[in-house]
Amino acid sequence: MRGPSSKVNLLTLETTCDETAAAVVTGRLEVRSSVVASQDDLHRRFGGVVPEIASRAHLERILPVIDTAVRRAGLSLADLDAVAVANTPGLAGSLLVGLVAAKALAVALGIPLVAVNHLQAHIYACRLAAAPQEVFPCVGLIVSGGHTSLYRCLGPLDFELLGGTIDDAAGEAFDKVAAMLGLGYPGGPAIQEAAGQGNPRAYRLPRAFWHDDQRLDFSLSGLKTAVRYRIAGPGRPDFSQIKLPQQQVADLAASFQEAVVDSLVDKAFAALGRTGLGILCVGGGVAANQRLRTRLDEEASRRAVRLHVAPLRLCTDNAVMGAIAVERLKAGLVAPLDLDVCP
Ligand code: KG4
Ligand code: ZN
Repeated sequence: MRGPSSKVNLLTLETTCDETAAAVVTGRLEVRSSVVASQDDLHRRFGGVVPEIASRAHLERILPVIDTAVRRAGLSLADLDAVAVANTPGLAGSLLVGLVAAKALAVALGIPLVAVNHLQAHIYACRLAAAPQEVFPCVGLIVSGGHTSLYRCLGPLDFELLGGTIDDAAGEAFDKVAAMLGLGYPGGPAIQEAAGQGNPRAYRLPRAFWHDDQRLDFSLSGLKTAVRYRIAGPGRPDFSQIKLPQQQVADLAASFQEAVVDSLVDKAFAALGRTGLGILCVGGGVAANQRLRTRLDEEASRRAVRLHVAPLRLCTDNAVMGAIAVERLKAGLVAPLDLDVCP
C-alpha cells in the first residue's frame, strides 16, 4: 500500500467486549465514518456483560456495521487500503468475531491486516484529540470495565506497565455497585447521575494504598464490599428486595464515586512523580466520569501537569481509536494472516 501519511483509507474494527464498532480513518488520522452498535440493552438485565451473548451479538452485527461504516465514508470495499482489528485484550469469543471478519476482508481485498492493542488504542484516543500536539512520552491511565492500569507510554506502541488493579476494574466496580443500589446499567453513568444529588462525604469508605507512593496499584473490591455492608450488612442479601431511601442511594453513590476518583487521581499523579514525566493521558469508559475529569483537571493545574483526557465520544469503546493502526503501518508492522486473539 501507499505510505500511511498519504490519503489511504483504513477500516478499523473493534469487538473486544460488548460494542460492535467500525470506522474508516485516513492515513492522516481524519475520521471519515464511525459506527458503534451498543449491546447495553442485551446485558442490562444481567447487570454486566455476558460473554456468550456478546459474541453472538457481534456475529449478527459485524457485517452490517462494517457496511454502514464504509458507506457513510462515501466509499466501497474496493477503496479500502488496509484493515485493522483489536485482537487483544478482551473477551475471547468477542475478539474472534472481529478478527475473523478482518482477516476475511484482508484476504478478499488483498490488503494488509493490522493488529491493534485495545489498551494502547484507548490512550491513542487522547493523541487523536490533541493532534497536531504530541502527547508522548506520557503516563497513561486506562480506566474501563475490564482494566484499571497505569503505564509509562514512551510512544503510541511502547507501553511499560507501572501498576494496575489487583482485583476489580473501576468500571466493573461502578457496574456492581450500581446493581446493588438498584440503579441502571451500565453503572458508571447511573452512579454519576445519582451522585449529583448526593453528599460525597456522607459515608467513610476505604481507599486502598492511599498516599502510598511506593505502590502504583489499585484495589477496589474492599470498597465494593464496604458499600455492600452499608446497604445490607454481611451475608448474602437479595438486593432486588432492598429499597433504600433515594437520598441514601445518592449519598452512597457520591461517596463511592469520590473514593474511586480519589484512588485514581492519587495513583496517576504518583506515577507522574515516579517517572518524572509531565504529561498524563487518560482513556477508557470510566474516563467519561465528570467528577474524575474535574478532579484530574484541578490536580493537573495545581501541579503544572499537561493533561489529556479522551473526549467523551472516544472514552467508551469505539473503532476510531483503532487509528493507532496508522502508527503500526508507519512502523511496518503488518500482521500475519495466522494472527490469533490474545484475551
Ligand atoms: O472502555 P469501555 O467502553 O469498555 C471496556 O473496555 O471495558 O468501558 C466501559 C465501562 C463500564 O464499566 C461503564 O460503567 C464505565 O465504563 N463508564 C463509566 C461512565 N461511563 C461509562 N464509569 C463512570 N462514569 C461514567 N460516566
Ligand atoms: Zn475498552
